Amino acid sequence: MTESHTTRILLGPGPSNAHPRVLRALSRPLVGHLDPIFLTLMGEIQDLLRKTFQTDNRLTIPISATGSAGMEACLVNLLEPGDKAIVGVNGVFGTRMIDIVGRIGAEAIPVEAPWGEIVPPEAVIGALKANPEAKVACLVHAETSTGAWQPLEEVGAAVRATDSLFIVDAVTSLAGAPLYVDTWGIDACYSGTQKCLSCPPGLSPLTFSEKALDALRRRKSAVQSWYLDLSMIEKYWGDERFYHHTAPVSMNYALAEALHLVQEEGLEARWRRHQRHHEALRDGLSAMGLPLAAQEGRRLWMLNSVTIPSGIDDAEVRKRLLADYNIEIGGGLGPLKGKVWRIGLMGESSTPANVLLLLTALERILRDLGKDMPDGAGVMAASSILGS
Ligand SMILES: Cc1ncc(COP(=O)(O)O)c(C=O)c1O
Repeated sequence: MTESHTTRILLGPGPSNAHPRVLRALSRPLVGHLDPIFLTLMGEIQDLLRKTFQTDNRLTIPISATGSAGMEACLVNLLEPGDKAIVGVNGVFGTRMIDIVGRIGAEAIPVEAPWGEIVPPEAVIGALKANPEAKVACLVHAETSTGAWQPLEEVGAAVRATDSLFIVDAVTSLAGAPLYVDTWGIDACYSGTQKCLSCPPGLSPLTFSEKALDALRRRKSAVQSWYLDLSMIEKYWGDERFYHHTAPVSMNYALAEALHLVQEEGLEARWRRHQRHHEALRDGLSAMGLPLAAQEGRRLWMLNSVTIPSGIDDAEVRKRLLADYNIEIGGGLGPLKGKVWRIGLMGESSTPANVLLLLTALERILRDLGKDMPDGAGVMAASSILGS
């Protein structure tokens, strides 16, 4: 049997480190998923999720699977064969939405932008005007594959004035960056537990507006996925508690604990923490001659893509970070493979100690591999942010 007790410092694109209280919650004694204790927990989770998504949406629940299931749930419930879907594509996750739209038999209308940049809101609004019959418009708030931070307000306001629905991927942004589901006119939003919520991977928080639920009720065909059919799942999570599947009890205990931790810290304080540590890392890397790769002014706080210096072996650096310092960071995906590192500062992983340790470790490794840089410059630059 393989048994690992290694505690990694998780500074990749996810999962992030989990708080000890969340890990303890995972080991609580099991109860049945229709036990009154679990039914109370379900209500508690829905209330906490509403606070975190900043929504009053009745249908606000964790889907019993990872973030990709949240994406698929939004698309399969809101699209039928032949429908049109406008999709912003500037990285892996917009590309994945296009794939799902095609599998449904709907027509994707991609609005593309170079990887690392945002999808211009005016281009999405233009696509909506050109395709007023589009059922949905979809954007990825935090493109984890590139580090680009997509603005949502303008598109939300434009979609609100139409019959279309606004779907937002908040897998990486929820609880790490401002997100106002109701105020911004988002109709369907999904996330994942393993990023800024700092819970293990396994659940996908999701919320549907009344407009989205209305569209679900007016479908002509059955939802293509039995497991992700929200018209059935809402009866399981609603007052009826009608059995649909066996909810992952332990993961729900863990999620409730993670959401309590978010409330205890305060959403805004948590956002500011993510911002401060991003700024410290950014300044530290820049002092070491390692610039961030995503579009200036549109860079995520929780996921930093860093340009790999020429002549430096991407995989070797990541291997040494893991072997010698216990630190995981991510490599680039798609066209960014071998060109960037992806450094996550998400949830519990977003700490001053992690910023300073990573900068120190990177400096030692890069020097060893022949990159010249001023002694301790990264840590000094980061400290001036962290100290203030
Ligand atoms: C923006 C975004 N969307 C969707 C997903 C898919 O989530 P999961 O890997 O939990 O299925 C991820 C995972 O990294 C993500 O970063």
